[in-house]
Amino acid sequence: MADLNLMEKIVSLAKRRGFISPGSEIYGGLAGTFDYGPYGVLLKENVERLWLQMFRDGRDDMYGVDAAILMNPKVWEASGHVSGFSDPLTECEKCKKRLRADQLDDPEKCPECGGKLGNVRQFNMMFKTHAGATEDESATVYLRPETAGGIFMNYKNVIDSIHPKLPFGIAQIGKAFRNEIAPRDFIFRLRELQQMEVEYFVKPSDWEQSFEEWRKMMHLYASAVGLPETSIHELEVPESDRAHYSKRTIDFEFDYPFGRKELWGLAYRTDFDLSAHEKSSGVSLAYQDEDPPAGGKSKFIPHIIEPSLGVDRTILAVLVSAYREDELGGEMRTFLALAPKIAPIKAMVSPLLKNKPELVKKAREVREELRRIHPSIAWDDNGNIGKRYRRQDEIGTPFCITIDFDTLGENPSLKDTVTLRHRDTGDQERLTISEVVARIREAIQ
Ligand code: GAP
Repeated sequence: MADLNLMEKIVSLAKRRGFISPGSEIYGGLAGTFDYGPYGVLLKENVERLWLQMFRDGRDDMYGVDAAILMNPKVWEASGHVSGFSDPLTECEKCKKRLRADQLDDPEKCPECGGKLGNVRQFNMMFKTHAGATEDESATVYLRPETAGGIFMNYKNVIDSIHPKLPFGIAQIGKAFRNEIAPRDFIFRLRELQQMEVEYFVKPSDWEQSFEEWRKMMHLYASAVGLPETSIHELEVPESDRAHYSKRTIDFEFDYPFGRKELWGLAYRTDFDLSAHEKSSGVSLAYQDEDPPAGGKSKFIPHIIEPSLGVDRTILAVLVSAYREDELGGEMRTFLALAPKIAPIKAMVSPLLKNKPELVKKAREVREELRRIHPSIAWDDNGNIGKRYRRQDEIGTPFCITIDFDTLGENPSLKDTVTLRHRDTGDQERLTISEVVARIREAIQ
């Protein structure tokens, strides 16, 4: 059941608290673009860092690249994007609105004004620009529509420089651009998006095993960023809906407030891409197996498994999953129950009173100690303590630490203890400073 009210609340919180706002907003925005603000950027970095840990750095078979966004246009000709990366477009004859023909309830009638819709034609979604000082067709280059293209261009460099054995993979995080006909639903369908992609190169006979391994990894990652198992649904994409390069695709769908929609994709791209680039460039992209099994080939084009995750859709799913409203101490509150690993601010440190220098000094010391384990430790000495807690709740800070006179030794048995307050329950405990440091370290690791 769609909950559009929840969506409005999330969009409003994201803007109000410096997570995400429309791109170039003072000029009325630009459809399909959003900017990440101070807390948004920290959340995004944490989501990406966790992906890097799980998909690249925690493994011995993975390598990173950061390829150029602009590439030789032959890349996109060979990959099939120039001829085939398109969506069906129709235009209303009355209000002239352009619509995606495959997303209409009534293919004849404009959902905006009821006008008659025109013929359907294929609209290529790649953004074009020109390299250099000429603007003719020969200088056309494309903004990459998927980061994968840059990974294929680096396959040979990785083989030649690192000499990895199969199976191995290349991971990349970066921008991709799609001239979506109808960008919508906040950061769900964007024209400028961020992807986290792995191209995993395997022997042709090993693709199924590898597909299963990455499928499991995607579920583990979903759980690590705080998406409930019950909100993720696998969809076996039928052949008619699969991308031209894929022999098998599973969409990981998520229950967004506007319905169940794609979150991530896992595809078996076969040897489609490497074979196409080999043919088009004339450069051999075969892998030389130094130790082939009896009767097996020593030189062949590896097959590819591709887990592809959109950063923005992940962040939207994270916000949807974390958004909570409850009543605490007789007052309504809004909070984000973010996993401590991805929360933008890990803890907030506060002196009980800001006009008591001895409290402020001790609180600053505690903050500095915590910053040795993580830089994102906030300071707040503004307004009453309840309000400070509420401000942190709304941005998902899991812990708040308050320094009071007992910390300074007013009650000698409590010297060097502080109050640790937990976001989700509002519960507070009295712990030593070193216990608090250990707790926070454990929670964010
Ligand atoms: N390299 C494969 C590929 O790009 P895709 O299913 O077209 O496959 C992969 O895109 C992921 O990128 C999607 O599952 C989604 O998370 C994200 N994505 C795709 N188009 C998007 C858009 N217009 N806005 C936001 N995220 C998008």
